Amino acid sequence: MKFFVDTADVNDIRELAETGLLDGVTTNPSLIHKAGRDFLDVVKEICAIVPGPVSAEVVALDHETMMKEAEILRKIADNVAVKVPLTLEGLKTCRKLTSDGTMVNVTLCFSANQALLAAKAGATFVSPFVGRHDDVGFDGMQLISDIRLIYDNYDYGTEILVASVRHPIHVLESAKLGADVATMPPAVIRQLVKHPLTDKGIEGFLADWAKTGQKIS
Ligand code: E4P
Repeated sequence: MKFFVDTADVNDIRELAETGLLDGVTTNPSLIHKAGRDFLDVVKEICAIVPGPVSAEVVALDHETMMKEAEILRKIADNVAVKVPLTLEGLKTCRKLTSDGTMVNVTLCFSANQALLAAKAGATFVSPFVGRHDDVGFDGMQLISDIRLIYDNYDYGTEILVASVRHPIHVLESAKLGADVATMPPAVIRQLVKHPLTDKGIEGFLADWAKTGQKIS
């Protein structure tokens, strides 16, 4: 399973990239606003830190303007994945961009039928938003399960990129269902490694080691 980080904070990205566990990055207009930096500059900087796909989102709603924005975004670096919304205009843009060899992440997916359309449009990634789906009383994980089944039925190569991840259980369930990628806020990636028994175990081993009076040298 690939791990992407869902942030535009380059300090967090740099720190997580150093672990060797990061396969890509997703950004969105809200995360760019939060970072408080120039969009194109920050995407360029992220692309230089992480060699994997870096999603950068268009903000136009019509195909023609989406294509103009995509032109600017895809020129930033070879690892930019242009993010388009799951609308008919977005799907049309997806088809055009992927047939030109550009990676596309179709975002804001909330139904399995939408995901089917994204695959038919040749999307590199589809982003089902599990947390926001849960928020309105649906089951985000059922959505992932349905999309996995449909993509496997037809051998679609579009990768299921689980988005709007709120906690480690979303990651665990996504992995069990065979999702290709999870994009997580930095805090969730850091939470994955934590277990109280690991901390307690380290504490106990170090206490006993100190009693031996030895050093590894
Ligand atoms: C994905 O690409 C989106 O940027 C993101 O996961 C949205 O998450 P949110 O629902 O926490 O805003």
